[in-house]
Amino acid sequence: MSEKSVLAILGSPHISGTTATMLDCAIQSAEKKGYTVITVNLYEKNLSFCTGCRACMNTKVCIQKDDIQEITDYLHKCQTIILAAPVYWANVPAPVKNLFDRLLGTAMEETSTFPKPRLKGKKYMLLTSCNTPAPFSWIFGQSSGAIRNMDEFFKTAGMKPIGKIVCANAANKKGLPKSLIKKIERCLK
Ligand SMILES: Cc1cc2nc3c(=O)[nH]c(=O)nc-3n(C[C@H](O)[C@H](O)[C@H](O)COP(=O)(O)O)c2cc1C
Repeated sequence: MSEKSVLAILGSPHISGTTATMLDCAIQSAEKKGYTVITVNLYEKNLSFCTGCRACMNTKVCIQKDDIQEITDYLHKCQTIILAAPVYWANVPAPVKNLFDRLLGTAMEETSTFPKPRLKGKKYMLLTSCNTPAPFSWIFGQSSGAIRNMDEFFKTAGMKPIGKIVCANAANKKGLPKSLIKKIERCLK
């Protein structure tokens, strides 16, 4: 695993939308800083639903054979994961939630008390966008709901956050504000 490797995951169906633009900005910044970037567009991947079989608790990787094995390999290979997903119903879009479900045993081990992380030492960065304007997007649980949900996966996996960035009021913005671009660029050292 290279210290300067990034897995960039797009969890939006719009490849030119606000969320994708935020991710592109993070990728460009990472490449400028000498990182190798692997990009995954979740909406182009073949991923069945989690069946809740829990076999992955022992195998550490899902036993359903589709694109999850490739994504799991990338997760292990990369030091930093950047996940970009829009707010859908104060949460993440269904394919992103399904990705977390499919990675249950990859991310954590069950014990008789608290879960034991299986991806310790890695870093993560979260990018999201929503139509509710700030500060209501945060106060009323819209962007905060999506961020909380994404955090739950990465924290339980033992990973450390390096940035959580929200573009609120996205429908009324033409391009990303300069301040937001700077925030994104500052996350990766
Ligand atoms: C199914 C669906 C649910 C949404 N739910 C919310 C929501 O709960 N709160 C909100 O502020 N915006 C919501 N939105 C708006 C999106 O978060 C917003 O348009 C976002 O910028 C889309 O990102 P994209 O450009 O990557 O598609 C929703 C949009 C869709 C399609």
